[in-house]
This record gives sequence, structure tokens and C-alpha cells, in this order.
Amino acid sequence: MLRRLDLAQPYFHSNSVSVMNFLASVSRTLLSQAKLGIAILLTSATVAQAQDFPSRPITVIVPFSAGGPTDKVARDIAQIMGKQLQKPLIIENAAGAGGTIGTKKVVLAKNDGYTVLIHHIGMATAPSLYRHLGFDPLKDLEMVGEIADVPMVLLGAKAFPPASANELPAYLKANASNISLANAGIGSASHLCGLLLQSALQTELTTVPYKGTAPALSDLMGGQVNLMCDQTTNVSGQIKSGAVKPYAAMQTQRIQAFKDIPTAQEGGLPPIEVKIWHAMYAPKGTPAAIIDKLSAALQAAVQEPGFKSKMADLGAQAVTPARAQPASLRTHLGHEIDKWTPIIKKAGIYAD
Ligand code: MLT
Repeated sequence: MLRRLDLAQPYFHSNSVSVMNFLASVSRTLLSQAKLGIAILLTSATVAQAQDFPSRPITVIVPFSAGGPTDKVARDIAQIMGKQLQKPLIIENAAGAGGTIGTKKVVLAKNDGYTVLIHHIGMATAPSLYRHLGFDPLKDLEMVGEIADVPMVLLGAKAFPPASANELPAYLKANASNISLANAGIGSASHLCGLLLQSALQTELTTVPYKGTAPALSDLMGGQVNLMCDQTTNVSGQIKSGAVKPYAAMQTQRIQAFKDIPTAQEGGLPPIEVKIWHAMYAPKGTPAAIIDKLSAALQAAVQEPGFKSKMADLGAQAVTPARAQPASLRTHLGHEIDKWTPIIKKAGIYAD
């Protein structure tokens, strides 16, 4: 017969407390051993994952239209990195909202190293242009490294009346309401350049946003829009063929591959400088060993003679291996956010 246990009895109480303590210590030990076992299993799984990486193609998100300057840099570096990693890097264009749509796609992607992002200076301007951005570039992404610096040129449609940069300020002020300025969406490099030009000239033009400067360039060549800032990686052929009118290099030095284009200041414009740097990112939490493999492949790719000469021919410059590293990119991105935030706030421009 089971004796009813009287829990109020002192003897029961003292014996049961020691039993309970013993059971509690056993369970604590078992729990900590289980946690340790799980940690070891997870660590060994992560190590195995990194050792096998990459075991399949890697998707590279480009947050602008195919055929544009960001797409061009991405396809060139992806091809070389693919050889280094012995697995293809496949470009996926996810355009819109000045590059923030594609960036958000990577912020939300699985952090297994098989989805990365290639974006440019827009990563540093979006935090001040978008009040509801939905992500923090420095907290919600892992840094892989920088890729290339690309200069910007202010371009006019062939039939646009001003013959040279020094005619632009008076003409733009006198005809502002009838002049269209194309860009790749608020937060894009072309938007930033146009923003600085309008702010410096105290002249507001009609801006026409596209999903990238590839489609915008088509309309510039067709005369549907009057002006655009674009990266030399996109327009070098059109400049050489005379299909567009290059007014000025938007920097303080002339572009080596386009020495006949004056700088903004030489052309009588305010001394605007917008250098477009490009970098690679991965989702937050991507294992460090995988980031290291991606960065090592990137460092080798930026040194590859073919990439360096292709960038130089297009007026651009591959970065040094030192800049193709996570810590360097983190520092650079932080400095660029600090640099552009007050400039954009002063211009009073918001995307949302
Ligand atoms: C930009 O303006 O941000 C880029 O040139 C857009 C693009 O790469 O298409």
C-alpha cells in the first residue's frame, strides 16, 4: 500500500530537500554537458561548412539594373573571384529605390556565404536619405572588402544647348523648370552627384529616376532627358563615340583615361567631388571563416592584371588588397557615413 506522503512532516522535508538538491545538481550538470555537446556539434558543423565552402555557386546581388556601372564592376570581379573559389559567382540584379531594395534582400538572406551584395557609395548615403531604411549597414551586414573606385562625369544629351561646362550655370538657372536630370533613384551615386550639383548652383532641376543608369543613358542618348552624372565604367564608349556630351569630371583631378574632360572647377562649376567606391558585403552572421575565404578571393581578384587594366581602360581603379579586407571596409564605410550625413542633411533631401 502506498503511504500517503505528508509533505508537512519535518523528516520528509529535510530528506526531500537533500534529494531535491542532489537532483537539481545532477540536472544542472547534465544540462551544462548537453549545452557543451550542442556547442561542440554546432562549432564542428560551422567548421565543416566553412571547409567545404563554396560547394555550389554563389549569388551576387547587384542592386541596380543590368548593364549599368555597378553591374559592370560586379560581373568583372565576380568572374575572377569565381576562378579563385572554383565555383561560379552568379549575378542577380535586384534594382530599385537607389540600391536599398537589393541591399535589404541581402540583409534578409541566409548567412551561409552563398548570397553576397556588391554595392557602392550609396551604402553610405542611404542612412541619411532614408528615414525608414529598415537596416543599419554597419550592424546588419558583414563586411567583405572594397573592389574599385570609379569616377563620375557630368554628361549632357548631344543636342543639349550648353556647349561646355562654363555655359551650364547661367543656362540651368535660366531654364531650370524645363531641364531634366536623370539618376538611378534616390540614394544612387548619380542622385548624389546631381544633388550636389543642384545644391552648389542653387538651382532645382526636374529629376527623373530610373532603376539604374543603363536605362537612363539610353534616354540621355535619345534626348528624352537633358543631363546625368554617370560613372565612366558605363559611359566610356559613348564619350569616345560622341554619343553624349561630357561636361566635367566630378573630382579635383582629371581622369587619366579621359584627360580632355576638364574637372568641375576647371569647367567653371563648383569644385564638386564624388568618387564612387564599390564593395562586397554578406548577411550578418556569415561565419568568419567563410568571410575570410570570400575576402581572400577578392584580394587576389583586385590584383589580377586583367581586372586592373580593364578598370583603368574605363577610367576606374581597382583597390589595393589592403582595402579588399573586412576591417578596412568597415572603417571606410563608417568614415563615409560620417562624411555624407551632414552634407545630405544640409541639402534637406529625403527619399521617404
Ligand atoms: C548609380 O547611379 O548609383 C549607379 O550608376 C547606378 C547603376 O549602377 O546603374
